[in-house]
Amino acid sequence: MNIILIGFMGVGKSEVGRLLARRLNLNFLDTDELIEKTEGRKISEIFIKEGEGYFRDLETEVLKTLEDYDNFALSTGGGLVLREENVELLKEIGPLILLTAREEVILGRVKHTEDRPLLQGDKSQKIKEILSERNPVYNKVADFVVDTSDITPEQAVEEILKWLKK
Ligand code: S3P
Repeated sequence: MNIILIGFMGVGKSEVGRLLARRLNLNFLDTDELIEKTEGRKISEIFIKEGEGYFRDLETEVLKTLEDYDNFALSTGGGLVLREENVELLKEIGPLILLTAREEVILGRVKHTEDRPLLQGDKSQKIKEILSERNPVYNKVADFVVDTSDITPEQAVEEILKWLKK
């Protein structure tokens, strides 16, 4: 069994993914971590030195290597599902669970981090812009949605477990 978490930066994909993996006895994988491991450098450095296009190609490459794994919860980078090819690859692996949060909640969670290349500058404005572009895609590809704005990661996990049992 595999489970995939998608959604914008700061919605809790990594934390919920880790907890979910623990509850279901799955391995935890994270596309950003896998990319950093194979490239031997940080996502932010890859963006700066090679550009976003190069990073997006790495995301697709990493998805193709997932055949080597089984029984995992996978947390994906916030822009990964924008590429149709990636969604097709993911759909073969497991259900796509979309985590969401209100704009102000996302801002509160990412405010103090500088490691997200797409949120450099006016974070509030960037979140608004990118979210409005991406929301239609996120909602279109999702099999199940959990709004994490007002709940703990543990509660988000409970909602996912309930849905999986159905
Ligand atoms: C990105 C989200 C980041 C990371 C990269 C690009 C995006 O991952 O993949 O900075 O396009 O939304 P998180 O969603 O885990 O922060």
